[in-house]
Amino acid sequence: MTPLPDAPVTQETTAEWQEIALSVAPFLDGVQQELAGQVAAFDPEIAPYAEYALANQGKQLRATLTGLAANCAGGWNNSAVKAAVIIEMVHLATLLHDDIMDGAEFRRNRPTLARKWDNTTAVLVGDCLFANALRLAAEFPTTDVCRAVSTATRTVCSGEILQNNHQGNLALGQAEYFKMLRMKTGELFALACELGGSLAGGDPRETRALREYGMALGTAYQVYDDCLDLFGSEAEAGKSLGTDIASGKATLPVILLCEQAGPEIATQLGQMIGRWDAGQLNILRGWLSEFNTLEQSQSSLESCLADAREALGAVGDSGHRDALEELTRFLAQQSVGLGVG
Ligand code: IPE
Ligand code: MG
Ligand code: MG
Repeated sequence: MTPLPDAPVTQETTAEWQEIALSVAPFLDGVQQELAGQVAAFDPEIAPYAEYALANQGKQLRATLTGLAANCAGGWNNSAVKAAVIIEMVHLATLLHDDIMDGAEFRRNRPTLARKWDNTTAVLVGDCLFANALRLAAEFPTTDVCRAVSTATRTVCSGEILQNNHQGNLALGQAEYFKMLRMKTGELFALACELGGSLAGGDPRETRALREYGMALGTAYQVYDDCLDLFGSEAEAGKSLGTDIASGKATLPVILLCEQAGPEIATQLGQMIGRWDAGQLNILRGWLSEFNTLEQSQSSLESCLADAREALGAVGDSGHRDALEELTRFLAQQSVGLGVG
């Protein structure tokens, strides 16, 4: 088993990120408190698992989006906090299951729940979190939030199924790849922005624009995450890397390589994936660098971020909109950072 990094330098502490998060600090505090309070909703024997899973928050990216979107649409309120709690809970549930599927051993510098306990427990705790999120969503006065959350959750899990169906498929096209990204990651970012906007009283046009922004940002974020898996360092990321290729997932850099390197390398890579061992990562990294796949992935990511900025054009002009725009620059910087060092 991979040892946990002893001196993690997480990306969650950059000054740029802190500045963005500061603008919604009271909102995020509220989310954190409510989320921690949810542990009490579980049977005492289950509570330690729920506590472990719910304490595993990173930079609360989705919650930050809900807070910023709500501020754009008139100002955050308790309903927006609750929506952010629900979305964060769904997200943490998907990660419990994802780490089992990806064979990941650690996340956010701690053993995954499956590694600390076992797969069965992690599957069932994930199910409990999904159910609990829907229970909270059912507390809203109308069924709109519950319907939106259930639909988005179904889409996220469907995206993971598509990804699983394409395991080992190195001929995966970019259109199919981006469709999976929008489903598995874009959707929850879009929901976070949409609910922030609508619960703060935003008009339908503005709420739609916020949703589009979230979808584009989330897609860019997953491209970044996929590049991180191949080009990042575990000590900095605080989670297991190299798991995408180990489980036969063709992510953008690999798709670009297979498109451009010719049949010989594609065939060789196909054989390597069939019996993957971590030592092969260096051979793959050599090819990925020879064909400039990181740079090409970064331009794809940039173009998603440009879509996100364009969507903001329909969002009321305010200081809060600037924070959403700042987030696109933060992500661009993170992506450039992958090529350095
Ligand atoms: C996480 O996907 C699960 C969802 C987006 C639903 P990944 O497998 O790409 O994310 P990491 O790299 O484990 O965080
Ligand atoms: Mg994963
Ligand atoms: Mg990943």
